[in-house]
Amino acid sequence: MTKVLVVTSGKGGVGKTTSTAALGAALAQQGKKVAVVDFDVGLRNLDLVMGAERRVVFDLINVAQGEAKLHQALIRDKRLSNLFLLPASQTRDKDALTEDGVRAVIAQLREKFDWILCDSPAGIERGATLAMRFADIAVVVANPEISSVRDSDRIIGLLDAKTEQAEAGHRMEKHLLLTRYDARRAGRGEMLSIDDVVEILSIPLLGVVPESEEVLRASNLGAPIVLHNATSAPARAYANAAQRLCGADLPMEIPSDRKSILGRLFGRRAA
Ligand SMILES: Nc1ncnc2c1ncn2[C@@H]1O[C@H](COP(=O)(O)OP(=O)(O)O)[C@@H](O)[C@H]1O
Ligand SMILES: [Mg+2]
Repeated sequence: MTKVLVVTSGKGGVGKTTSTAALGAALAQQGKKVAVVDFDVGLRNLDLVMGAERRVVFDLINVAQGEAKLHQALIRDKRLSNLFLLPASQTRDKDALTEDGVRAVIAQLREKFDWILCDSPAGIERGATLAMRFADIAVVVANPEISSVRDSDRIIGLLDAKTEQAEAGHRMEKHLLLTRYDARRAGRGEMLSIDDVVEILSIPLLGVVPESEEVLRASNLGAPIVLHNATSAPARAYANAAQRLCGADLPMEIPSDRKSILGRLFGRRAA
């Protein structure tokens, strides 16, 4: 059965778009037919991270308003034939996206795909509530810092109130994805600990993605991190998270400070 998943957070810049691309590509690598949908009208980031910005012709709003057919707007990934992007419009104003329009697009996508990943815009306004509206599952992205965790807490409240699942009296399946986790800063107590975040938000942990330059490099090259450098720590974290979404029971890998300790011990001597 198709799963509609929203990647959401409240706060901007925490890693939603990066995570949508990475989880989408990882699910596709596991053989699932996947569509990633950009709800960030006006910003249009997901196409850049997916390396498809020059191939955008029609977008989510065009399909929602009946100006284009879904198949005309979907962009097939050049690396994975079962991964597709439905881009966001860069120019249209946010109000062009309506609830009925989104409902119709999601219904059409459900007929074609195993997984539909909705990349939410920041904030708790209409764009964010539309992105989560028809979701079965939510991945709540947070960074281990107070402002991000506070915004994620508000988003969890919305997931439990403003979604179709919630209105039908169902408990929405929610997972916490901690991103941009810096083991060194966590060790110095400059960030919230993983345990703190899990305790505050009280939803199950899907994965911990370390802060890594590889992520920036991948996004500059227009490749989801799992395709750019599959053996890097963030790629492994995303691949494992995708497996957990499919029900796999894998031990949680917590990014460690090991390299920096070795670096500190031996780096000084070498200098
Ligand atoms: N694990 C990570 N390590 C380093 N940089 C990251 C990581 N995750 C995301 N970023 C960077 O953070 C910035 C914001 O990420 P993005 O996915 O666009 O966030 P959002 O969609 O929540 O606004 C981007 O420049 C992205 O490359
Ligand atoms: Mg984004």
